[in-house]
Amino acid sequence: MAMIQRPKGTADMLPAQAYKWHTIEKLASETAEQYGFREIRVPAFEETGLFLRSVGETTDVVQKEMYTVTATGDSEFTLRPEGTAGVMRAVIENGLLNEAFPQKVYYLINCFRHENVQKGRLREFHQFGCEMVGSADAKADADVISMAKSFMDRIGLRDIELNINSIGCPTCRAKYQQALRDYFGARRDELCDTCKERLEKNPMRLLDCKSPICKEIGKNAPLIIDYLCDECSDHFEKLKKYLGLMGIDFVVNPKIVRGLDYYTRTVFEFISKDIGAQGTVCGGGRYDGLIEELSGKAVPALGFAMGIERLILTMEAQNCDFMEEKTCDLYIASMGDEAVDKSMELAMKLRDEGFFVEYDLMGRGIKPQMKYAGKIGAKFVLVIGSSELETGCAKLKNMASGEQADIKLDDSFVDNFSNALMAEMFKDIDGEMAALLGKE
Ligand code: HAM
Repeated sequence: MAMIQRPKGTADMLPAQAYKWHTIEKLASETAEQYGFREIRVPAFEETGLFLRSVGETTDVVQKEMYTVTATGDSEFTLRPEGTAGVMRAVIENGLLNEAFPQKVYYLINCFRHENVQKGRLREFHQFGCEMVGSADAKADADVISMAKSFMDRIGLRDIELNINSIGCPTCRAKYQQALRDYFGARRDELCDTCKERLEKNPMRLLDCKSPICKEIGKNAPLIIDYLCDECSDHFEKLKKYLGLMGIDFVVNPKIVRGLDYYTRTVFEFISKDIGAQGTVCGGGRYDGLIEELSGKAVPALGFAMGIERLILTMEAQNCDFMEEKTCDLYIASMGDEAVDKSMELAMKLRDEGFFVEYDLMGRGIKPQMKYAGKIGAKFVLVIGSSELETGCAKLKNMASGEQADIKLDDSFVDNFSNALMAEMFKDIDGEMAALLGKE
């Protein structure tokens, strides 16, 4: 029988990997909350029109990468290729624009893009993102960037380069678009078909075309930074000043334009050199026109999103520490029906107190039960048979040291087990303390 396999460009996250994801998710929400961001959850699919109006009709994401679905008699929907559009739709629809500014939200989501699959480029991937609504001040840009940086520091990443640029506002962009039309127009015949079309509609999109020829031609294209109006220049200068004040290193990279249409003014990327060609672990910027485009109300906003798979790849490449996986505190091995009953009773008591406990569910003999306890990395094993039930006392085995101690199975059991576990967990620290005190 042919086995059905997972779709190309998707991944199964198995239990053995879960602790890596938990590390990211826990530190992401902790960092975001410290900066005043609160979690938002929105649907994984939206009306297709939302992405056309926000991400932009001439972007690769919309033209080539959307998973669009229809159900009989229903509208056309698209699996979200990114988070900002849906989150802004929710902010507007739920009246958050009437609340105190800045509104700050973060999210941990999956996204879908029909891309050419390669290392760090998937068709279903995950993002940690944040959005701040209401502030036009460059301090907000610096604050959002500092949050991204602080999170990456916390997960232990090193050598991540922050690239910043300004892509101006509609005023300064009009002149720039013309400069691009003149430049690329001179070599129109060499451009890919998509870019020929983009030349009229949205020439800035030529700058992030993935076709090798367009990329080559684009190398000497005019730079937006040379066309900024006074206000946009001033905003960018302030951002650089604030980043300096905050001690955040950056390089100005005038080639960053980002692949989504909604950006205005500040754009930025954090890039790792340790994971190959797809090294952008975080991308973001300001999108002061998007809320107006979607709601008619002019409200500035900005944010970023990081690819969780790329973060994990970088952490692995840099040997960063992940949160430790939880392991079983106690495995109760039992022989005979009455002993099984007792093991269930003891397990429930310990679980009620927060301990991680397992017992035999397979009807195995003692030897295979011990083997299983070893495999799951149980810290202690308790063995109960008929004689233990008779005497009310059993052996508690410390699996790391091999030591065994008697433990009563009466009401003192939970406290005594807790003491044994604490002694095991803190033995290294106790040893270090003793060594330190000895030296003094
Ligand atoms: P983006 O640059 O398209 O921006 O994606 C953000 C991050 O998601 C990228 O830097 C990368 O780490 C990850 N990513 C993107 N595509 C893939 C893929 N195919 N496979 C694996 N990882 C990927 C946005 O999505 C904007 N919504 C960010 C933003 C939020 N701007 C303002 N607010």
